[in-house]
Amino acid sequence: MKILGIETSCDETGIAIYDSEQGIIADALYSQVELHEEYGGVVPELASRDHVRKAIPLIKQVLIEANCTKDDIDAIAYTKGPGLIGALFVGVGVGRSLAYAWDIPAIGVHHMEGHLLAPLLEDDKPDYPFVALLVSGGHTLLVDVQGLGEYQILGESIDDAAGEAFDKTAKIMGLGYPGGPALAKQAERGRAGIYKLPRPMTDRPGLDFSFSGLKTAVATLYNKSDKSEQELADIAYAFQEAVVDTIFIKCRRALEQTGHKRLVVAGGVSANTVLRQKLTQLLESKGGQAYYPRPKFCTDNGAMIAYAGYARYQAALNGRGEFEEPAICAKPRWPIEDL
Ligand code: KG4
Ligand code: ZN
Repeated sequence: MKILGIETSCDETGIAIYDSEQGIIADALYSQVELHEEYGGVVPELASRDHVRKAIPLIKQVLIEANCTKDDIDAIAYTKGPGLIGALFVGVGVGRSLAYAWDIPAIGVHHMEGHLLAPLLEDDKPDYPFVALLVSGGHTLLVDVQGLGEYQILGESIDDAAGEAFDKTAKIMGLGYPGGPALAKQAERGRAGIYKLPRPMTDRPGLDFSFSGLKTAVATLYNKSDKSEQELADIAYAFQEAVVDTIFIKCRRALEQTGHKRLVVAGGVSANTVLRQKLTQLLESKGGQAYYPRPKFCTDNGAMIAYAGYARYQAALNGRGEFEEPAICAKPRWPIEDL
């Protein structure tokens, strides 16, 4: 069975084909970074228009890459939400219309479920149950995952998401957009122990996060600094260390609370190598294992949507879950526990 996946929830047009026998057989990604760079963040209307330009050419491209025609595709999965409403509507409209024209089912996928399932595309994949840490530009969630669609949120950010904190802090430090990778790069040359930033909400019980205070703390440091390369690197180091430590403490708590020995880490910030190292060590020390998507499937992509669509399609065929009405519907807000 082959599923075409379409991701257009934010600033990346991601298209891929998942084959139930062979895994991902083609994937293409068009990043709009250059388009939004001069504005220092995503401009929703520009994002929507660019998805319109790129979606169909990329679908043609992956069909060629996979050596397929439309007749080989068994179903279409598209991101239904959460995300930017205009951007979502492009993928929803294209996905539903093609499915109607090709007379095959269309499956609306939850973007965060896509991230959550992305590590299942790897050879070394986790069994259920596990704790999932979802760290992206829009969400920070700790989830107790018992099975497909069996999600209980253990903790979430009460203000900025982890990726958002990286992006806003990078902006304050003049590192451009998107800030996460740029800030992580700066931190590589930073020295330990020069600056110490707080680990928000770790001094009290619970699994919620708060990252917005960190950017204010960085702004104070940055304004007082001499803006030399070394000082920027030291500040970036302290910021990254604070975010990674905070996430580490909350993951340790979530594992203790649930008793799970597996941690799945996904979403854009899971590309961060320092975070990956620390969480891998944590799980090793507990006799468990941490699982990640390969780096290119950490950030938004079509492969995770194609795979999540496949998982949902299989569940519906087996009487677990229903096929949707063929309505064009996108959900900019959509709690993952509603699945
Ligand atoms: O999952 P994603 O592609 O989009 C959303 O669903 O939001 O995540 C994008 C976020 C951005 O905030 C970006 O700065 C962050 O992931 N990010 C990183 C790294 N790579 C991407 N943050 C820290 N370190 C990285 N290496
Ligand atoms: Zn995402």
